[in-house]
Amino acid sequence: MIPFGDPSASYQAHKSQVDQAIKRVLDSGWYVLGTEVDAFEKEFASFHGQDFHAVGVANGTDAIALCLRGLGLSIGDEVITPSHTAVATVAGIEQAGCTPVFADIDPTSRCISPKSIEERVGTNTRAIMPVHIYGQPAEMHKILKVAKTHNLAVVEDCSQAHGAEIDGQKVGTFADISAYSCYPTKNLGGTGDGGVILCRSKEFAGKIKSLRQYGWNEARESIIPGFNSRLDELQAAILRVKLQHLADDNAKRRAIALRYNHAFQDLPITLPALSENELHAMHLYVLEYDRRNELMEYLRSHQIGATLHYPLAVHQHAAYAKRIRGWENLPFTEQFYHRNLTLPMYPELSNDEVERVIRAVKRFCQS
Ligand SMILES: Cc1ncc(COP(=O)(O)O)c(C=O)c1O
Repeated sequence: MIPFGDPSASYQAHKSQVDQAIKRVLDSGWYVLGTEVDAFEKEFASFHGQDFHAVGVANGTDAIALCLRGLGLSIGDEVITPSHTAVATVAGIEQAGCTPVFADIDPTSRCISPKSIEERVGTNTRAIMPVHIYGQPAEMHKILKVAKTHNLAVVEDCSQAHGAEIDGQKVGTFADISAYSCYPTKNLGGTGDGGVILCRSKEFAGKIKSLRQYGWNEARESIIPGFNSRLDELQAAILRVKLQHLADDNAKRRAIALRYNHAFQDLPITLPALSENELHAMHLYVLEYDRRNELMEYLRSHQIGATLHYPLAVHQHAAYAKRIRGWENLPFTEQFYHRNLTLPMYPELSNDEVERVIRAVKRFCQS
């Protein structure tokens, strides 16, 4: 079976460096929040340019909650976000005590629609949380304009878009602060849970560092009510290795996506848009097709791990159904969830495997 993603292939590709990093940590005898986390934070920040600060945390959901808490948001404060995202985005907003509100997506980018955000702004709205879904940058310039008009904070959910760019500027650097997951399947993934927050303000980074560990100050007195959301040294050391290869790995993903897009251009399929001025991180390759269930079954029966991201939009899950403002009016999101299909996408996919996927999709669609 060709899987849709393969974290073990990433380990094998960088094995000697990862093994050395693991040994270094085990030998050090210091396992949580230490020199590896410090170094990862500095390297991740400078990957995004000068004047940035990064804070390692336990996972991407916590990163979202900590961003909102760090901004001082809590009960009753509304955060506008798409329903077309991982459940984690919405779970993180609620974990912070805030109230999510759903906006629709733009059908081309599949990211939150600035127009729909504008329609949802109300008296309790405090923030916008765009998600760069599948590695496709959201329309940050328009989103920042809406935010400025209504005096709202912006927190980017970059969990699927490490290294993506708009006009040469990396996602995560447009908003006040940004949240990343470093779960093993992500473009920058460890071998366990991990997350990171990026911001411009040293003071804000200091607040997040306090919040991630019981609200402690340097004397270990809790000065604000906090969390336990620490990044461990093993994950940080592995993420330092992976960060060195992120740009190359993303380029390999894009090259595979271009091959898919080229091969499928004459089929009755909607392809991911790859625009000239954006660097798509191509976390997932997701097409849209009217007969996607049949195509998924066909591919699986030919040992190709096609799957759905996601089977349900967040407002369609029982835990969230009919209780999040905006849910009744998400036409592009609803339409997308009838047609989405994820094909295998990871940097280590071989030429032969890509060809196998292409041949099988074409055979089905042309039959
Ligand atoms: C868009 C998005 N946001 C947030 C998260 C949360 O990350 P984690 O699983 O590390 O908590 C994920 C990962 O699943 C994600 O894909």
